[in-house]
Amino acid sequence: MSSGNLTADRRFAYALLLRRDGDAEAAADVLAQTLELVPDWAEGRFALAETLAEAGRKYDAIAAFENYLTADPADSMGAAIKLALLTEAAPKQMPEAYLRRLFDEYAPRFEKALLEKLRYRAPEILRAAIDTVQPDGTFARAFDLGCGTGLMGMALRDRAGWLGGVDLAPAMVRGAEDKNIYDQLLVGDMVAAVLALGEPCDLMVAADVLTYVGDLTDVMHAVRARLTSEGLFAFTVQRHEGDGFVLGAEHRFSHSRTYIEDIAATAQFSISYLENAVSRQEKGVDAPGLAAVFRAR
Ligand SMILES: C[S@@+](CC[C@H](N)C(=O)[O-])C[C@H]1O[C@@H](n2cnc3c(N)ncnc32)[C@H](O)[C@@H]1O
Repeated sequence: MSSGNLTADRRFAYALLLRRDGDAEAAADVLAQTLELVPDWAEGRFALAETLAEAGRKYDAIAAFENYLTADPADSMGAAIKLALLTEAAPKQMPEAYLRRLFDEYAPRFEKALLEKLRYRAPEILRAAIDTVQPDGTFARAFDLGCGTGLMGMALRDRAGWLGGVDLAPAMVRGAEDKNIYDQLLVGDMVAAVLALGEPCDLMVAADVLTYVGDLTDVMHAVRARLTSEGLFAFTVQRHEGDGFVLGAEHRFSHSRTYIEDIAATAQFSISYLENAVSRQEKGVDAPGLAAVFRAR
């Protein structure tokens, strides 16, 4: 990460060291001096805001995150999430530019990290749930929302006639392309892609994707609109025991079981399957989740 100014880069590196050593106040001073040299540098503004938050200077941090957003209105570093956590107001969903950047950077080590470190199992859990609800036959048209590098597609391929997928992050989609299992892959937002589907599908899946969306209203209505009658929507979410949905410090949303039950009714689905499931770990501990299969009614 470079500001384009050598002196500013040196100051920035020094600030990161101070921050790493736990002296957030001193790091914030050095970052403020850095920004005197490169006032428009978005990454520098973001680092200052994060450091102020670490120093416990909540209101200065809020102002600094807002200042960052004027330099990067698309919010590729996720200031909206930080602001939501600081002000305790859950955003409806994550900034698209932030997710794209996060997963583009993650793509080269995604599968190794997920499968080996996080014990990721969402695709096999969803495949088993789909097999339970509809044991036989092929789905003529299946669509994979937030397909990533194609792990869900692999789990589904033998039960799908035509298989499409969409993901926000181009580098993740390239990973999916390399597997040669999708008939069509798109880069973009899943809600827009689902609404633009030429023909309706009889199966849609979202494995570990709705954790990046708080309010599920738009995605549920879009899926319902483009599913055939009796078509299935299989997905996982992270679970929390309160009401509605909450944003966690690890920048993932959790949804309550009642929220999932209510959204099924609102979007005209019946619930064919809804079970507690652990599809990954978070910091070495099983993350509580839900696996669901909704049927369009
Ligand atoms: C944890 S990965 C899971 C990938 C894949 N489903 C799997 O099981 O391996 C989450 C993926 O969702 C994608 N994503 C998140 N929000 C999205 C959105 N609104 N539209 C499309 N893709 C999205 C991310 O880019 C990322 O690739």
